[in-house]
Amino acid sequence: MTDVTGVAAVEEIRAEVLRALEMAATEEQLEDLRVAYLGRRGKLTQILRSLGSITPEVRRETGAAANELKEVFEEKLAARRKVLADKKLAALSGQEKIDVTLPGRPYLRGGLHPTTRIIREILDTFVSMGFAIAEGPEVEWDRYNFESLNIPKDHPARDIWDTLWVDYTDDSGYRPMLLRTHTSPMQARIMETVNPPVRVVVPGKCYRYEATDATHEWHFYQIEGLAVDEGITFGNLKGTLYEFAQRMFGEERKIRFRCDYFPFVEPGVDMSIDCFQCDGDGCRICSHTGWIEIMGAGMVHPNVLSSAGYDSSVYTGFAFGMGPERIAMLKYGIDDIRNFYSNDLRFLREVGD
Ligand code: DAH
Repeated sequence: MTDVTGVAAVEEIRAEVLRALEMAATEEQLEDLRVAYLGRRGKLTQILRSLGSITPEVRRETGAAANELKEVFEEKLAARRKVLADKKLAALSGQEKIDVTLPGRPYLRGGLHPTTRIIREILDTFVSMGFAIAEGPEVEWDRYNFESLNIPKDHPARDIWDTLWVDYTDDSGYRPMLLRTHTSPMQARIMETVNPPVRVVVPGKCYRYEATDATHEWHFYQIEGLAVDEGITFGNLKGTLYEFAQRMFGEERKIRFRCDYFPFVEPGVDMSIDCFQCDGDGCRICSHTGWIEIMGAGMVHPNVLSSAGYDSSVYTGFAFGMGPERIAMLKYGIDDIRNFYSNDLRFLREVGD
């Protein structure tokens, strides 16, 4: 313990401490000051502690002065702390000013690919008419892709589908395998596994050995449809597809069927809608014909029913197949099918969802 006692000593400390307080420029310096005077071994603390050992007369005066100084010091310390904290805040907000006029940062959001979007839309219309959804393999046996669809080996109709073959040999020898050229093989696969009645739509990817241009891709999607039951007629086909066309392209749409040939249906047709752009007057979209072809369809060929194990004298059915990219191109005014899979974000943002 030092021998600093008496009012004079307190006054000396007062002068010193008030000057130091004025000069302290940071909160750390203020804290050092507090420790130096009021800490366990602080100068003022020592005086206060020494009061017990001095004579009563000196003690009273010294004690009063020391306690008063302690109070003043603590008050000034707090006030100074606040001044410094305010200063720091002011400096900070000067640097980190927020410019509320700056444009916001764009919030990047993923979206649905236009193909996904149109497939969902098409499937929804059929699901609402009672169709189920099924999917099947993209690598397919010749048997399903062709033979079970009434397209035997060496049949010239195979030329309709330029095929990507997959070499495949197992213990029983070579078995012709391919990348499916259409979703129609699922007709046979479904009929092999479920009993009638059948009402199903099948979305899926297809492949063709084909040069690409604005209307042809070597890989694309199809949506197949199949309905089989006792007593299904061409009238059911027309009614179902008419309903679909109106929901997709507008209530006022008309439809037209023309004969077409697909080995797995008899009769086979292609279905067109009257042009939604020009209402049938003729424009660029409908190649000035007034009609836009949107799918192939027909009554399921009896050979297809019986090769899948259905009794073709009891059951009849209709089938249809369409290209969702083509439907999207028509609906959203896209003029090149290659846009779909070229991963151009500008295109995807424009027509995606
Ligand atoms: N699978 C045919 C194609 O790729 C489209 C098709 C036509 C499917 C008529 C059908 C149908 O189910 O009945 O060209």
